Amino acid sequence: MRSHENLDDFLAGRSAYLDADTTMPMYRRVRAMIEDLLARGVFDGGRPMPSTRYLSQELGVSRNTVAAAYDELIALGVIESRPRSGLYAATPLTRAAAESVSSAEPVDWSTLLRPRESVEFTRTLGHPDAFDYPYPFISSQPELRSFPVRGWLRAASEAMTGPHLRYSVRDAVDQDDPLLVEALRKEILPSRGIEASSDEILVTSGTQQGLSLIADVLLGSGKIMGFENPGYLDAMHIFKRSGVELSPVPVDGRGAVFDRSTVFDAMYLTPSHHHPTNVTLSLPRRKLLLELLEERNGFVIEDDYDSEFRFRGRPTPSLKSIGDNRRVIYLGSFSKFLSAGLRIGYIVADAPVIAALRAERHHRTKHLPGHIQRSLALFITSGDYHKVLRSHRRRLKQNWEIITESINTYMPRVEASSFPPGGVSVWYTGPEDLDAAELTERAAKQGILVADGSRYFFPGTGSHNCLRLGFGSIAQQSIEPGIALLGGIAHRMLDETRRISG
Ligand SMILES: Cc1ncc(COP(=O)(O)O)c(C=O)c1O
Repeated sequence: MRSHENLDDFLAGRSAYLDADTTMPMYRRVRAMIEDLLARGVFDGGRPMPSTRYLSQELGVSRNTVAAAYDELIALGVIESRPRSGLYAATPLTRAAAESVSSAEPVDWSTLLRPRESVEFTRTLGHPDAFDYPYPFISSQPELRSFPVRGWLRAASEAMTGPHLRYSVRDAVDQDDPLLVEALRKEILPSRGIEASSDEILVTSGTQQGLSLIADVLLGSGKIMGFENPGYLDAMHIFKRSGVELSPVPVDGRGAVFDRSTVFDAMYLTPSHHHPTNVTLSLPRRKLLLELLEERNGFVIEDDYDSEFRFRGRPTPSLKSIGDNRRVIYLGSFSKFLSAGLRIGYIVADAPVIAALRAERHHRTKHLPGHIQRSLALFITSGDYHKVLRSHRRRLKQNWEIITESINTYMPRVEASSFPPGGVSVWYTGPEDLDAAELTERAAKQGILVADGSRYFFPGTGSHNCLRLGFGSIAQQSIEPGIALLGGIAHRMLDETRRISG
């Protein structure tokens, strides 16, 4: 195979390469084909490699694709570029060296990766593509259109000027932006009844980083952590990975159910709106918890992720705001009120805890990006943040009314359900014979994103007929049609099941 004709014959059989492994990018398939040509000696003896134009025409791929394949082969030393002459097979010596690299056995990373402790839990649902669905009933992020682009750009641009620039671009070592900490103290925490000094606050990359720092600094093996069941999957994974023993705590209409006999050293709770059912932890249980923590020298992590969204009456006070609350480690987040993508949250706790968490954060990420912190601080102090919050609250209240009414109208149900008036999602319980996992799958095929409720339970516990329906991300006009469609699918499924069993 030493003539052009032979090369052409070879290229005629290209489909063996180009159609072979469709999970491999096209340029990699082209590269494999060129490597085979080289191995057969087609380009030995000083014969130049075909041009990118020639190969792209012959193979029916773009010139960029061929160029990318050549670039990799040049980088590997398999072919070389000679100035004003073209590409050539590398000298046998270089080729042998390159082959020894490219033909090496793939590394078996599974033997090197540390085993993680939380594999038994359902993986958390991530929907980076949620906005591509016509009916995204998810709750993890506010509706795209609701992001205050103009106000944010104003703040972000101001953050790059005058006295602000220093704070936006400096290496802050382990410090937070003082303006943001002040804004949290004076403009955010008071609405949750919380007073804190600046050494009692730490800015984090969302609640996730807060939980992970707390897990490493305060938990670990040998400790028992009470955890709502159903509960927040991300927190389950984070805590489990710290080695702590998670002990499921059931939830009823008044929140987590525990008494003096419940064994725990620490507790993780979402007391304002339980994740995922939205119920509020009752006052007597809050008081009992604080008493038990005192007796046991324990602490509670209060995840107050969406407390501002209460649609009837006043927001429930935070646990951190009642009585002797030093054993409450409070976590807040801007993910629900502004944007999950900004990745900003904060922890409020006693100063020694914050100092330990700060040291831990320092050795992982130093600090949060200065520019984001300063922009957020300016966004809050300008008054824009509170405007956004008010408009989110108005919009979400309407969304809540529409979704609850739509569920009662269109979804199969046992009796008219009443839903706690807050949060960014509702918890729907269907008839006993409704298979929520199957419904979730069928719905996704019709552009409806919902979460099967069973995924929020500890393995082997929990229900099969519940759904979590978020109403924070979906456009208002899509809520009723989406639920009507979902209800139609659910009714058809039940008809099928009942026909078979009856
Ligand atoms: C229970 C709970 N806590 C916290 C958060 C926010 O997490 P983050 O601040 O890391 O985005 C969420 C968001 O989905 C949540 O559901």
